[in-house]
Amino acid sequence: MSAPHSNSRAPLKGTETLEVPAVNAVNPVTLNRNSSPGEVALVGAGPGDPELLTIKALRLIRNADIVLYDRLVSQGVMDLIPEGVDRQHVGKQRANHAVPQEQINQRLVDLARQGYRVVRLKGGDPFIFGRGGEEIESLAAAGIRFQVVPGITAASGCSAYAGIPLTHRDYAQSVRFVTGHLKNDTCDLPWADFVQTSQTLVFYMGLVGLPVITRELIAHGMSPDMSVALISRGTTAEQLVVVGTLSDICAKVEQNRVEAPTLVIIGEVVRLRNKLDWMAAAQPVEAGGQ
Ligand SMILES: C[S@@+](CC[C@H](N)C(=O)[O-])C[C@H]1O[C@@H](n2cnc3c(N)ncnc32)[C@H](O)[C@@H]1O
Repeated sequence: MSAPHSNSRAPLKGTETLEVPAVNAVNPVTLNRNSSPGEVALVGAGPGDPELLTIKALRLIRNADIVLYDRLVSQGVMDLIPEGVDRQHVGKQRANHAVPQEQINQRLVDLARQGYRVVRLKGGDPFIFGRGGEEIESLAAAGIRFQVVPGITAASGCSAYAGIPLTHRDYAQSVRFVTGHLKNDTCDLPWADFVQTSQTLVFYMGLVGLPVITRELIAHGMSPDMSVALISRGTTAEQLVVVGTLSDICAKVEQNRVEAPTLVIIGEVVRLRNKLDWMAAAQPVEAGGQ
């Protein structure tokens, strides 16, 4: 007899289509389609799998005149933008901004003033390490109408697809999101605060700084045996999870040709993946990736 429901579905590939149920609610951005001035929707695109996009995000994308998007927006989500909608890449890589932040802010203001319905599409959630606040500050200062649509942040998407609950009554009563983008390799983070029992740490942008992060956590008292997971390209068909400990994760990552973007999860909860890796049945295990 087959199981009542299967949990082995792989993430959607970009080419698969997504049916969106009709939604009758009035949308504040699309309401004034022909009126001027225009408006801006700051929209979270989620971590990669296009099925993780919200219905609201999809509706706004479909009604946009222009989409300004980041490098982290997945191809699967980009494929949902209708033909004919102008797409402008303003993404950035580490320290290499395709368009400087001030110019992005100004471009949003200018486009809205020209009467366009603009979607500013950002990877994950716009308010989590996404500079969403800076962009809407400029809009607010310029008197432009805007709205914010949350997206699934990388921590939620990657942990779910890796089978690692970020909190668990037995292992972690709190979770902390930290930027691992360490300026000039300095250790300017409150490391002692991170070393607490029953707390999960999630480092965004932590790949380059991983040797510093692991070294400092151990130096501040965390066990070298603490479990660590590094998730590369989470929620996409290329998702790779490397699991280790504070003392050996850097070596394991080097062995695995890990590609950005990556997220680092540190804490007891990582060990639950042994039981909860629901995607294992759907995806072949990469050599040495476990
Ligand atoms: C500038 S931050 C933007 C975070 C985004 N606003 C969010 O809420 O997920 C970029 C970092 O997010 C993480 N990230 C985003 N998407 C990811 C993915 N699909 N897999 C792993 N990490 C991801 C990585 O740590 C990456 O360096």
